[in-house]
Amino acid sequence: MLKVDNINVFYGPIHTLRDISIEVGAGEIVALIGANGAGKTTTLRTISGLLRSKTGSITFMGQDISHTPPHKLVSRGIAHVPEGRHIFLQMTVQENLEMGAYTDAAYTKEGLEDVYRRFPRLMHRKNQIAGTLSGGEQQMLAIGRALMSRPKLMMLDEPSMGLSPILVQQVFDIIKEMHAAGTTILLVEQNAEMALEIADRAYVLESGVIKLSGAGSELAQSDEIKKAYLGG
Ligand SMILES: Nc1ncnc2c1ncn2[C@@H]1O[C@H](COP(=O)(O)OP(=O)(O)OP(=O)(O)O)[C@@H](O)[C@H]1O
Ligand SMILES: [Mg+2]
Repeated sequence: MLKVDNINVFYGPIHTLRDISIEVGAGEIVALIGANGAGKTTTLRTISGLLRSKTGSITFMGQDISHTPPHKLVSRGIAHVPEGRHIFLQMTVQENLEMGAYTDAAYTKEGLEDVYRRFPRLMHRKNQIAGTLSGGEQQMLAIGRALMSRPKLMMLDEPSMGLSPILVQQVFDIIKEMHAAGTTILLVEQNAEMALEIADRAYVLESGVIKLSGAGSELAQSDEIKKAYLGG
């Protein structure tokens, strides 16, 4: 479904991503793990068209998207839940969700029904100003908003960040549910243990380079991973 082939991304003179290649097959959950500053967010932002690679190509469902602007990628079926949520704090819950739908009213109505079915908490708070939601509720809103575009591929950047263990579990349950409903997932996570548990495959990014890749279960057993990311 997604093929990132040999990309190199720079911030000014700084060479941040080096020869990165990643594949995500239809129906897979693929995790991207790595330490702070490894380049995980940069990778997702490049796939989303917010940053450009100097080399290589990115293809989605057989089409080259290396030069496609971000908003067009949403209509092609790629949704991106950015790091730190980025919801519209001054708008209500429902207005935030409506911003995630990009087409007609009927589509928006169906999307809202679907999101409210998955997140009853959001339904109960649909007229609440988003900035007054709890951290966990804001994260659910960010995921709900991304779902409004009915993506084929959902990219999530550290969706569990800052959440209590129960909410982390809930977010992972939501990811599993979206996946079961047919959405392909590219998941960036600090919580390597949980990410590897649900991932079919994973890539380990270190200082802008892919250090390891393989089946989630295999990587979870690797001594290198255990030492670096799973606490021993
Ligand atoms: N706009 C920017 N300008 C310059 N350097 C940047 C910019 N954004 C990120 N970087 C640098 O690029 C490197 C990779 O950052 P990135 O945000 O992709 O890491 P990350 O793996 O997502 O880390 P974290 O787990 O902390 O979110 C870091 O060294 C960071 O300081
Ligand atoms: Mg990041």
